[in-house]
Amino acid sequence: MRFKVRELGNGFAAEIQDIDLSANQDADAIEELKQLWWRYGVLVFRDQHLTERQEADFSARFGPLEIHLRHEYLSRDTPEILYISNIVEDGREIGILSNNDVGWHYDQIYLPQPAVGSLLYAVELPQAGGATYFADTVSAYEQLPQDVKQTLAGKRAVQSYAKFNRAYSVPTNEAQTRKTQDIDHPVVRTHPYSGRQSLYVCAGMTTEILGLPSDESAELITWLCEWSVRPEFVYRHDWRLGDAVLWDNAASIHRREPFDLSERRLMKRTTIQPLPEVAVPF
Ligand code: SIN
Repeated sequence: MRFKVRELGNGFAAEIQDIDLSANQDADAIEELKQLWWRYGVLVFRDQHLTERQEADFSARFGPLEIHLRHEYLSRDTPEILYISNIVEDGREIGILSNNDVGWHYDQIYLPQPAVGSLLYAVELPQAGGATYFADTVSAYEQLPQDVKQTLAGKRAVQSYAKFNRAYSVPTNEAQTRKTQDIDHPVVRTHPYSGRQSLYVCAGMTTEILGLPSDESAELITWLCEWSVRPEFVYRHDWRLGDAVLWDNAASIHRREPFDLSERRLMKRTTIQPLPEVAVPF
């Protein structure tokens, strides 16, 4: 192993030491990082100094990058980068999510081919608040009571971006509304690379488990959402400037706590798609 790894939380997240993401990593280094990414749900890289191009180039080694459909929040020079920020410039919010309390979700569960990962890089941070929490949805699935696993077998659930936007006060635009109709996905997601199974239901976007009476479906969604974020499954990331965090979107769920609106927070995110050869229809 070339990289030094320090486990964080319950061993679900890990800090990867002595690596400069702005440097061109050779194929062996990327292969090692991929193995770590699939083993840990969250990889933390401290003290990085990245241009937007370098962040996008590093991220692209893990899969094709999504150009997020919220075009108004993309970097003008590097559209693979989405700004997550409360900063207002010339009367316009430059990023998405402002200073909001953002509940548990998987990135892009509302698309036909959801993302497998995201890389988030901290550029400006508030004095307090704005921590990001990640929960291990593989362990959450593995530790489910057997009868719940049986109920979930083969089931699909409806995912709604509109629900997320309503719940967390995210303003929408016309293109987004048009392109993100409600969609259903398996309740248990099989990881396209590791083959591991994980829970794929979240408080932020799941509205219904198909094939169950509506009261049973609502009750089970609430139960699963509480179960998957029990403290033993959660790693809390308190950001430092220069942190870059790569998470596995097919093995974890995340939420962001709010912060004072008078403070500035600027994060730059890439969103990673599966390689075409593993991008099977859901
Ligand atoms: C996100 O949900 O992608 C953003 C998380 C954060 O702002 O920390």
